[in-house]
Amino acid sequence: MSTPPLEDKTIAELREIAARYPEPRSGLLPMLHLVQSAQGRITPEGIEACAAILEISAAEVNGVATFYTMYKRHGVGDFHVGVCTNTLCAVMGGDAIFERLKDHLEIGNDEVAVQRQGDSRTVSLEHIECNAACDYAPVVMVNWEFMDNQTPDSAVQMVEALRAGHEVRSTRGPRLCTWREAERVLAGFPDGRVDEGPSAGPASLAGLEIARQRGWTAPEPGATPAVEAKESDA
Ligand code: FES
Repeated sequence: MSTPPLEDKTIAELREIAARYPEPRSGLLPMLHLVQSAQGRITPEGIEACAAILEISAAEVNGVATFYTMYKRHGVGDFHVGVCTNTLCAVMGGDAIFERLKDHLEIGNDEVAVQRQGDSRTVSLEHIECNAACDYAPVVMVNWEFMDNQTPDSAVQMVEALRAGHEVRSTRGPRLCTWREAERVLAGFPDGRVDEGPSAGPASLAGLEIARQRGWTAPEPGATPAVEAKESDA
């Protein structure tokens, strides 16, 4: 698929992002997300546009765009499926999910599955590092939205529903949006759906609940943390 050129509206929005920061170059990360939203990937044109607006070199922009794995210089699917294969998720089933999806989609890591006749959406697959959601391992992310406690079967069902164009919701509530829609939100242009679903689930709040039950509170700034005496210290 050909890449659309950057529109004047996108250039104006790139300038808008840069203007949000005391140091305009601080806006580079969201600006790159906006390029991905507009063009589906980080393009040479997008790199040049960011560099010109920020008055830095294209090499500096390129250095940032190639450092972070969330920035893609090749196209991804409408739904980019990231399977956590970091230690905890891996042993809890992440490795098995990733292998099953690779076989099912007939692709390798960071590749886009062929769009079959009848598919209305495309899917790509990547193994990713810890999502800081280990309490819901094994975790899969779709366009950075959580799909908790997955299995190889549930992951296959999910990608098939996405390819068919059915509405799929995160296990935490929000409707999964497309890669380009998600990238626009990451660029700092809210889609008005921030309150769809909870911000934290019960497993993530278990420690907080225990602390409340026991009356534990955070120490005052600068205070020495209290250490409970062990019986052997008595
Ligand atoms: S190891 Fe998978 S979310 Fe942390």
